[in-house]
Amino acid sequence: ADQPQLLQKQRAAAQALRWVRSGMRIGLGTGSTAAEFITLLGQVVQAGELRIEAVATSLASENLARQLGIPLLQPRRGLRLDLTIDGADELDDRLQLIKGGGGALLREKIVATASDYLLIIADASKHVTQLGRFPLPLEVVPFALPWVLDAVANLGGNPELRLDKTNPTEPARSDQGNLLVDCHFGQLPNPPELAQQLQQIPGVVEHGLFLNLTRAAIVVQADTTLVLRP
Ligand code: A5P
Repeated sequence: ADQPQLLQKQRAAAQALRWVRSGMRIGLGTGSTAAEFITLLGQVVQAGELRIEAVATSLASENLARQLGIPLLQPRRGLRLDLTIDGADELDDRLQLIKGGGGALLREKIVATASDYLLIIADASKHVTQLGRFPLPLEVVPFALPWVLDAVANLGGNPELRLDKTNPTEPARSDQGNLLVDCHFGQLPNPPELAQQLQQIPGVVEHGLFLNLTRAAIVVQADTTLVLRP
């Protein structure tokens, strides 16, 4: 990321910190923007300014939080989170999202759904008029891969198996050990319909469309900060 973009992420993270109150249970997102938030949260926790507990949406975020001394919770019956703060790969004005560029979409959606409030933080590059420039990620059970690729191709989604960044002869794996498929549909005129079609493919554990989940988004532009609500 270029320097202005990093600064926008840091400013969005700093704004989000103002939504956190002592005693809250917080969901921690995944990705470079969420990592800026976790870092700031860790600082105030270490300074004794906030007393919170958190659930992480990935092993990476869990490790970061642990290093920073943020008390961590595991899922359990009856546990609800007050506020989850996460990034996004794309968001539109209705706060429909594409997520999963970092491969954590499944746990991100689980934690978002267990939360009373999902707050998205993003730099201006993520804010689009229509979703779809960013390829839509799927988490896929390995056994089902060939047939999932066929089904996505039939829907017009030009599927691409994601490869491991450090070892590109191997496929990328989610924290759950599943595969990731990036689908190139182009512009998405009807995200709810597509979400339903993808959910119906056996072996698709989760898709990266986050619809009706986000309560607010902080989008930082060059010199303004927008707070969007659906
Ligand atoms: C992780 O799986 C994604 O959903 C992230 O939220 C998304 O990729 C945003 O990451 P950056 O903040 O690094 O752009």
